[in-house]
Amino acid sequence: MSGRRRRSKVLEKLKRREQRYEKERMMLTKDLSSERAVLEEVFDRSTLMTIYRLMNKGVIGEIYGSVKAGKESKLYWGKDKEGNNLAIKIFLTVSAEFKKGMLVYIQGDPRFTGVRRDTRSLIYLWAQKEFKNLHSAFEAGVSVPKPIAVLRNVLIMRFIGENGIGAPLLREISLKNPGKIYRQVLANVKRLYRKAGLVHADLSEYNVMIWKGKPVLFDVSQAVSRKHPMANEFLLRDLENMIRYFKRLGVAVPPIEELFKKVTGNVKS
Ligand SMILES: Nc1ncnc2c1ncn2[C@@H]1O[C@H](COP(=O)(O)OP(=O)(O)O)[C@@H](O)[C@H]1O
Ligand SMILES: [Mg+2]
Repeated sequence: MSGRRRRSKVLEKLKRREQRYEKERMMLTKDLSSERAVLEEVFDRSTLMTIYRLMNKGVIGEIYGSVKAGKESKLYWGKDKEGNNLAIKIFLTVSAEFKKGMLVYIQGDPRFTGVRRDTRSLIYLWAQKEFKNLHSAFEAGVSVPKPIAVLRNVLIMRFIGENGIGAPLLREISLKNPGKIYRQVLANVKRLYRKAGLVHADLSEYNVMIWKGKPVLFDVSQAVSRKHPMANEFLLRDLENMIRYFKRLGVAVPPIEELFKKVTGNVKS
């Protein structure tokens, strides 16, 4: 085949693919309600295709409005085909700054050696990592939202809250018995460390929800294996945040060294 012929074949193929995408995109738009028209404006084509695939697979039945919009991700409320509530976390393209920040939590974790470093691959990895961490934590009996599925930059988990309103964050709620919540948070941190072998690494009053009187830890994309070279530092920082928060609420908290020992025990890292 001549170079020219080959080129025109490739172009034809691309055009067909382009048309197929366009058709799928139209279908997506067509059966989309007004909220979903908003999705169109917010997400790039690849993200729309991912959402579309999850709908075709039957993982997502409906998507409603956005619950929270962070800098790096957006959280949507949705339902599966049976009407169960879903939290749909969509990771967005990130700045070079954030990319640098992400690498700290990936390099050094034995689970992620030899990963690709381009931005898109990193975002996909970041979503997989959150899914994996959620899964290990959930299996270990840690109070976290149950993971359901992950595809590219879209993570689906159980929705914590009601009617599309997310449960309040620890920082937003006035606790009747802060001592009890403190002990439950600590018990979860300990279980996460010992049974799941993980350190949350971004634990604060922003990443704990209170639902039905109990804490739910979430936002675990940056959680690392306790074998990560900085795991101890991350754990100390997590514990410091909890000490600071609960101390202000009048809870008698032990010194950090004692807490650290309580969590790690004689686990060899
Ligand atoms: N499973 C969930 N159910 C209900 N709301 C959630 C769930 N996961 C996260 N959220 C809400 O979405 C917000 C952003 O989620 P988070 O995972 O913390 O993303 P970010 O990495 O942008 O901080 C949270 O502050 C919380 O209010
Ligand atoms: Mg968060």
